[in-house]
This record gives sequence, structure tokens and C-alpha cells, in this order.
Amino acid sequence: MNPRNATLSIDGKPIELPTLDGSLGPAVVDTRTLGSHGCYTYDPGFLSTASCSSGITYIDGEQGLLYYRGYPIEQLAEKSDCLEVAYLLWHGELPDAAQKRAFDQLVTHHTMLHDQMLSLFKGFRRDAHPMAVMVSIIGAMAAFYPESSDVTDAQQRGISMFRLLAKVPTVAAWSYKYNQGMPFTYPQNRLGYAENFLYMLHATPCEDYVPNPTLARALDRIFILHADHEQNASTSTVRMAGSSYANPFACIAAGTACLWGPLHGGANESALAMLEEIGDISRIGEFVNRAKDKTSGFRLMGFGHRVYKNMDPRAAIMRQTCHEVLDELGLHDDPLFKIALKLEKIALEDDYFIEKRLYPNVDFYSGIVLRALGIPTSMFTAIFALARTAGWIAQWNEMIETPGHKIARPRQLYTGPQRREFVGIGER
Ligand code: CMC
Repeated sequence: MNPRNATLSIDGKPIELPTLDGSLGPAVVDTRTLGSHGCYTYDPGFLSTASCSSGITYIDGEQGLLYYRGYPIEQLAEKSDCLEVAYLLWHGELPDAAQKRAFDQLVTHHTMLHDQMLSLFKGFRRDAHPMAVMVSIIGAMAAFYPESSDVTDAQQRGISMFRLLAKVPTVAAWSYKYNQGMPFTYPQNRLGYAENFLYMLHATPCEDYVPNPTLARALDRIFILHADHEQNASTSTVRMAGSSYANPFACIAAGTACLWGPLHGGANESALAMLEEIGDISRIGEFVNRAKDKTSGFRLMGFGHRVYKNMDPRAAIMRQTCHEVLDELGLHDDPLFKIALKLEKIALEDDYFIEKRLYPNVDFYSGIVLRALGIPTSMFTAIFALARTAGWIAQWNEMIETPGHKIARPRQLYTGPQRREFVGIGER
């Protein structure tokens, strides 16, 4: 018996299961052969299940570490930019100068949407949530690029990857413009990725907009921090949808839908709303008590994480970015930032949060930065989706390229009725 194997005993019969080692992190027990013994593992919510192998992102939740392709997030946030990070996520290595220029050039020159898509936007109610619009328009791109459905063709996959990375910011910006009843602003090829997004949001045909470099850098950093996060709910959704070889635009639309929820990408919107509701430092205690009271149904939004049981490294970078942005704008006394800092301090000293190992996550501070950039709350999750697109695409492509591909098909523990006979309507 191999001492590294796990042994499971079912009805007294031992079953040996091999363990698999990753390059970092805990080993996993390979349960793939269990089905042939007539049993399955049960793990709703994937609390202890690795759904795939991946070489893209590594998180150590105990220590609060996040690496993209081995590079610590702190170094990337400080020294890189979001397109370089996208290149890294897709290709596994940082680009050299010529590769970087070519990559930036390709993304920059695919930012326009097909003109017919304007009619799609115009079909929505003006008050449609930007995420509802994004889910639809991203999915609808499959109809504009039907050749993208051939996902076994690496060249087609590559074209779709660039189209998504380049066009999703335009979709996000236009979903906002449409909300506001304003004309759509076309992307500008002279601008960088984050600058161009700010431009599309804030420029109008009557008024030019010159992006402030500090603010554009802060937004770029938000894009970097949100670019990937291993097998989170939306990324797993993209992989699940893609596992059937569905069209890539449809898969990214599925991921966008999953991200929308308040327990995932919607938390930045809820975190800022919570800080606004708290309104004053004197009311923090009341909200902390509500979060501790299980009957209240209230949680501190922007706190806690399935994987991080220590400080989310992205939250620390975001806190620093808050300082930089608010300083640049002369908003040193921003009341919401003061509430956030104090709330973090109080919660981190509270036994409930200490025992449950609940720390601020990336969404706790990102809302304050986005608000300072003049971005409305309803756009926060859309920006998360925009940023995560780079990672979703990398994970989707990795899944398709990995040999031995299988459609995702979880099993279940059936708890419904046993076989029974149909009774005609008159006899029920
Ligand atoms: N405030 C108060 N209590 C909390 C909180 C919170 N924010 N988060 C978790 N808890 C408690 C929870 O009540 C539970 O207590 P008990 O064990 O007594 O029942 C315990 O901590 C574990 O919580 P859980 O919901 O079982 O943990 P999870 O891993 O399933 O959920 C989470 C993780 C992020 C959904 C959760 O912490 C949460 O709802 N946080 C608020 C929403 C939020 O900030 N989401 C953004 C996540 S980061 C961005 C992203 O990756 O999408």
C-alpha cells in the first residue's frame, strides 16, 4: 500500500485513492475512480473540492497570499499594468517589449462594437441595471461572430479572447451612458486601457475628458487586483459553461451573470451602500452588533472570504490606493473612508470577527476608490466583470487546451420521492 495514498473504507471494503501534488499548496485526494465503486463524494459549495487543475493563479488563504503565474499581486499592482497582467495570465510569462507593444496594439484596435449592437442597447429600458445589459450584450456577441463557436480552433479562440478583452469595457461604458440617456462615446485609440474606459464613461460630444493619470492608474490597479482569483464562483461558471464547448461569448456572459450576485461581485456595491447607511463613526458599533446577531440577516459587506482566513492582500493594496486617490483629489477627510478605516479597526478587534477569521476583502475599499473616480455605484459590479474578463478568458482557454478534457457533470445526493405510479387527475 502506498503510504501517500488515502484509504477510504466503505462497507468494510478499503478503497485506495492516490494523492496528487500541486506545485504549491495542499495535495488533493484523487477521487475520480470512486464512481466505479458505486459511490460519490458530497461537497455542495465545493468546500473541500478542487474542481480542476490550473497553472494560472495561486491563493494561500491562511497566509493571505495571491500570485498570478507565480508573481505576487503586490509586485504586479505596483510595477505592471492591466494589459501586461492579461498577457501574463494568458501566456504564463511576462511579455518582452515587442510582445507587449503588439498585445496592447491588438486590444486597442478591437475596442469598437459592431454598429448593429447599438440597436440591442436601445431595446433596453433606460433604467436597466448595467449588469443586465452586460450579460445580454456579451452573450449576443456570439451572434455577431459566429465563427467563434469553433472552440477547437486555437486561432478562433485567440481572436475571441482579444475581442472580449477589448470590447467588454466599451459594453460596460455604454451600459452606463444608456442609463444616463447620453449618446455613446466611442473608444479612443490614443488612450490606454483604463484611461479609455474613463474617457468612454465621462466624455460627451460637447465636452472632452482628459483622464487624470493618477486616477487612471488607480483604476488600472483595480483591474489588476480583480483580474483573476482562481476557481471562484464566476470563473467556475465560465469553466462549467465552456466544458460543453459552448461559444466563448456565451461562457463569459454566464460568468458575468454569476458575478452579479451580492455574495460575489455585487459585494462592492453593497459595501459602499453599507458605509453610506452607517453614515457616521458613532453608528459603527450598532452595525457591528447587527452583523453578529444571526437573527438580523445582516452581514458586514466587504468582510469575510471563503478562501482568505487572513487579510485579503488585495484589500491592503486597495486601502493604500484609497489614500492615493483621495489625496490627489484633495478629499483627505472623505467621511466614508474614515468610517471604513474605523470599522475595519473595530471589527478586527472584535471576538466574533477574530474567531470566524473575518477580514476585509477587496470589495471593502474598492467602492470608495470607484466613487472618488466619479463612477456611480450601479457600475461597480460591471467594472469587476470588466476586470475579471481577462482571468475568465485565461481559465476558459486553459480548460480547453488541457488534454483529457471532460464535460463538467457533477453527481447529486438524491433526496426526492422514490418510484411511485402516476395517478390520473380525477383520482388525486
Ligand atoms: N459579516 C458577519 N458574519 C459573517 C460575514 C460577514 N460579512 N461573513 C461570514 N460571516 C459568518 C457567517 O455568519 C458564518 O457564521 P456561522 O459559522 O456562525 O454560521 C461564518 O462567518 C462563515 O460564513 P459562511 O457564509 O459560511 O462563509 P462562506 O465561506 O460560505 O462565505 C462570503 C464567504 C464571502 C460569502 C461571506 O463571508 C459573506 O457573505 N461576506 C459578505 C459579502 C462579501 O463581502 N462578499 C465579497 C467576497 S470577496 C469578492 C469576491 O471574491 O467575489
